[in-house]
Amino acid sequence: MGYLQMGGIGTFSAMALPVPLAPVKMLIQEERGVSFQVGPAFYRRQSSLARDLGILIAAVHRQQTGSLRVLDVMSGCGVRAVRYLLQARADFVWANDACNQLTDLLAQNLSQGHSLDEKSEAVGEEDFERWRITREDAHKVLLDCALRKEYYDLIDVDSFGSDTLCVGPAIGAVKYGGLVYLTSTDGLCAGGRRRHNALSSYGAFVNPMPFANEIGLRMLIGCAVREAATRNMTVTPIFSNYAYHGPVFRTMLRVESRKRLVNKDYGFIVYCKRCGQSQDIQFEDLGDIACCCAYPKEKGSVVVTGPLWIGPLHDRNQVEGMTELAREWGWINSVGARSISNSPVDMHILKELLEVMVDESQPGLPSGYVRMDQIGKRGKVRVPRRKDFIDRLQQEGYAASRSHIEPRAVKTNCPMDQCIELGYGSRSIVIQ
Ligand SMILES: C[S@@+](CC[C@H](N)C(=O)[O-])C[C@H]1O[C@@H](n2cnc3c(N)ncnc32)[C@H](O)[C@@H]1O
Ligand SMILES: [Zn+2]
Repeated sequence: MGYLQMGGIGTFSAMALPVPLAPVKMLIQEERGVSFQVGPAFYRRQSSLARDLGILIAAVHRQQTGSLRVLDVMSGCGVRAVRYLLQARADFVWANDACNQLTDLLAQNLSQGHSLDEKSEAVGEEDFERWRITREDAHKVLLDCALRKEYYDLIDVDSFGSDTLCVGPAIGAVKYGGLVYLTSTDGLCAGGRRRHNALSSYGAFVNPMPFANEIGLRMLIGCAVREAATRNMTVTPIFSNYAYHGPVFRTMLRVESRKRLVNKDYGFIVYCKRCGQSQDIQFEDLGDIACCCAYPKEKGSVVVTGPLWIGPLHDRNQVEGMTELAREWGWINSVGARSISNSPVDMHILKELLEVMVDESQPGLPSGYVRMDQIGKRGKVRVPRRKDFIDRLQQEGYAASRSHIEPRAVKTNCPMDQCIELGYGSRSIVIQ
C-alpha cells in the first residue's frame, strides 16, 4: 500500500485550515475515466482542462526523462494526484493539503493506485510505495524538501488568489529540468486594480491595459523568473493557460540551472491609450519610452506595466508532444467520437486549445492582443472575419495568430495603424 503519513506521526505538524466551501457540491466525480470522491474539498469541474494539460506534460516528461516524481502541495480532494498516478503513470506522488478534514478523502482517492499495482505482472516492494499523504503547510513541505535535497520532477502549486509565497520554494524543490505548475486567481491584480498587491505578490506594477488576462499570465511567470534568478536558476513556460472561470491564470514552467538572468524576455509592456498600440520594452530602453503614433504626447496617454515576462507563452515542441499524446490516448479524437468517458465537448475544447497554443508560439509575436472590434472602432470600419484578417496579416509578412485568451482578438506584430489600413482593404464596410 501507499505510504500514508497521517496526524501524530513523527515531527508532523498539521495546519488546521477551515473546510472550504465547494462551488460544485457533488460527491463523486469523474475526469477522463478516473473516478474520485470530492467530499468537502474545493473542486471545480471547469478546471479539468487545466488538469488534462498538467497530466499530458507530466506524461511527456516521463517519456523524455524516464522519471516522474510528483509533489502536489495543495491537493484538495487529490484529483490531480490520482490523475498523475494513474494517467501519467507517475513513479511516486506526494499529495499534501493543510485542511485536516481531507486526509481520509485523499487516502481513499489515492488508494486507486493499488489497482494499477495489482495489474502489473511483477509487483515489487517499490510498487507499493507510490504515494504519500500529508496535511502540512505547503510552504513548509517545499522548504523541507529543498533542505533534505529531495527534488521532484513536477511540483504542483494550485493556490488561491495572489498567494505567491510558494513560488520560490517550489522552484527550490524541483529537479533541474523539472516542472513547476503555478496558479493565480487574482483578476483584479491583472486588471491593474490592485496595484500594491500586484507589486508585492508579483513584483510588477500593473496599469490597466486592454489585454489584462494576458498580463495575468505574464505577471505570474515574471514572478517565477525573479524567484528563479535569486536561486541561480531560470524558468521558461511550457504552456500558459487563462480560464475565464475564476478567472484562473496557470503556467507550467521548466526550471533549469543557469547563473544569470537573461533579461531579453523579462521587461515591460507599454500601451498607448491614444492609438491602441502596445510594445514590449527592455530594461535598457526604459528611458526612451514613447509611442510612434502621430498623436501629440499627452500626460498619462502612454502607460507602462512591468517588469514581467515578455517572452513566448508556450514551448511549441512541448505542446506538440502533448497533442500527440492526447491523440494517442483518445482525448482529442474527432468531434463526435465517443469513448467511455471522453465527452465530445471536452475533446473539442482540448484540441482547439492545444492548436491555439501552437499558433501563439510562433516567433515574432509580441505581448498582448488586439480585439477585432477595437480595430473596427478606431478605423471606423466593419472588420473582416478574424480568420480572414489573420490570413491577410500573414500574407503581408506579419506574424499573426489567434489568442487562447480572447476569441475575438488577434495577436500580431503589425502596428495598429497598419491593422486599420488592412481592415479598410478587406472588403470591410465603412461605419459612418
Ligand atoms: C484550489 S484548492 C486545490 C484544488 C485541487 N488542486 C484541484 O485541482 O481540485 C487549494 C487547496 O489548497 C489548500 N491550502 C490552502 N493553503 C494551503 C497551505 N498553506 N498549505 C497547504 N494547503 C493549503 C486548501 O485546503 C485547498 O484544498
Ligand atoms: Zn500611440
